[in-house]
Amino acid sequence: MAQRRFLVTAALPYSNGRLHVGHIAGAYLPADTYVRYLRATGAEVRFICGSDDNGVAALKTARENGCPVEELTARFNQLQQADFAGLKIEFDIFGGTHQPGFVETHERISQDFFQQIYQKDFFTKRSVKQLYDAEADQFLPDRFVRGTCPHCQSDKAFGDQCEGCGRTLDQVSLINPVSVMTETTPELRETIHWYLRLDRMQKPLAEWLASKRDDGQDDTSWRPVVLNQSLGRIEAEGLPERAMTRDLTWGVPVPLDDPDAKGKSLYVWFDAPIGYVSFTAALCGEGPGGVDRWWKDPECKVVHFIGEDNIVFHAITWPAMMLATHDSESVQGEPGEYQLPHNVVANSFMNIKFPGKDEEKISKSRGNAVWIEDYLKDFDPDPLRYYLTAVAPESARTAFDFDDFLARNNGELVNAFGNFYNRTMTFAHKYFEGKVPATGSRSDEDTQQLERCKEAVNQTGHELDGCHFKAALTAVMGLARAGNGYFDATKPFLSRKTDMEACGRAINICLQTARTLSTIIAPFLPGTADRCAKMLNLGEDYRTWALATDELTAGHVLGQPEILIKKLEPAEIFAD
Ligand code: MF3
Ligand code: ZN
Repeated sequence: MAQRRFLVTAALPYSNGRLHVGHIAGAYLPADTYVRYLRATGAEVRFICGSDDNGVAALKTARENGCPVEELTARFNQLQQADFAGLKIEFDIFGGTHQPGFVETHERISQDFFQQIYQKDFFTKRSVKQLYDAEADQFLPDRFVRGTCPHCQSDKAFGDQCEGCGRTLDQVSLINPVSVMTETTPELRETIHWYLRLDRMQKPLAEWLASKRDDGQDDTSWRPVVLNQSLGRIEAEGLPERAMTRDLTWGVPVPLDDPDAKGKSLYVWFDAPIGYVSFTAALCGEGPGGVDRWWKDPECKVVHFIGEDNIVFHAITWPAMMLATHDSESVQGEPGEYQLPHNVVANSFMNIKFPGKDEEKISKSRGNAVWIEDYLKDFDPDPLRYYLTAVAPESARTAFDFDDFLARNNGELVNAFGNFYNRTMTFAHKYFEGKVPATGSRSDEDTQQLERCKEAVNQTGHELDGCHFKAALTAVMGLARAGNGYFDATKPFLSRKTDMEACGRAINICLQTARTLSTIIAPFLPGTADRCAKMLNLGEDYRTWALATDELTAGHVLGQPEILIKKLEPAEIFAD
């Protein structure tokens, strides 16, 4: 079988702040887990991320902090990379749409993209009225204007999107608009923009999305939340054309030889997803062996990991952009054309629950989030990776609950997983000289346990192929519990006094189970898995999925037992 090939992306974080647990649970951790799994199965994978530097978000924060926007985005790009590294979220490349070393390629590829679409006549040039701040003497694109949402009446609506209901907005529909620059009421002025003819792609996009509904083969079907939001949007309002340019000088300049394009940039949601491509170019080069091989070859599957507020952009706008570059009638694209994503995997947001308080939304204000930077000062990445997968908001909002974090670490990871390794290793060292005891003649109970190992490998792999991370982790933990159940049932602590052969047989099976667990826990908890592998003295290839149930031979020398996972005390939890 040909080697499977995947290009995996995680949403480019805006480079105007640090990362909190909601970001990590939403996109980055599942993406990293998926990539680790794919690699373990022998697939060829590139894992792409970087910062989303252009547009209003960074510019606005830079103004608030009185620092140049290049400086701000460079600083947060670095800080975010430190957060990811601390959590062992390991991209093959972390670029940035305006970072030194990336910005030139990014601008060129973005501008080419725009021009291709332009030449294919998918833009309409329009003169429109937009909000203008006379005092600041500028137009107010996107987040530079706020007001009341015309749909849900929330006052947390901005020129591009409402934070209350998540809908994308046309800024002129805002009720009581206010300039965030000067707090004055803006006026309407005429300006010119280029609109993407999404209406012309509505039918093929709707059909393509509908084809992603669950047909029983779940590694090709998309999550309901992604399809419901994107198809729901099309049903509710069709696909009106959308402006892909802005009156802004921070960003990718509009590449048209037209005086009306002067002083304008590409809309940040136009250039940001192209960042996935331009960072691929930085990593792999351009042309046949590079970008084309990862983006324009039907043999390569592109998978995007995102948070729920990004769904429409990744399931509609971005595919529409790629579609607009196609010559072919085929929706997915012919070889040599941009291939539409194989999957768009979105999680919901995560709330937060402090002890003794009600569940609330995570907000950027310092006291209302768990910041990765703070977490990493006190803890290893794995307890957080475990918790955020166990309570992942895969189909609905969930909450980061401090008591639950503690309970799951101590009750599940330490008690079930860690304890199984610990008792098995202790036994092997105490009574079998630190070596794998003889197989002996296996009982039904023994073969059943080995069967459970095989099932757990299959089940975990199947769930991971379908991007069901929670279910996959449940399958892993199920095997750890089954291991403890087997230990309790075969009672090596009794047989060691009466029947050393039976005792050895049981410990042999426990060690085989531990060996399997080392492989299947690895995509989730890479550090823990390394410690497991060291304890069992496994080779470098211990992560290889196909070897997960290869048995350790009798006499194999084990490593030294060590504490796999630390118990956490309530008092340590984020005590500031
Ligand atoms: N910066 C956006 C956000 O944090 C995500 C951009 S994803 C990309 O919501 F595809 F556009 F890059
Ligand atoms: Zn709203």
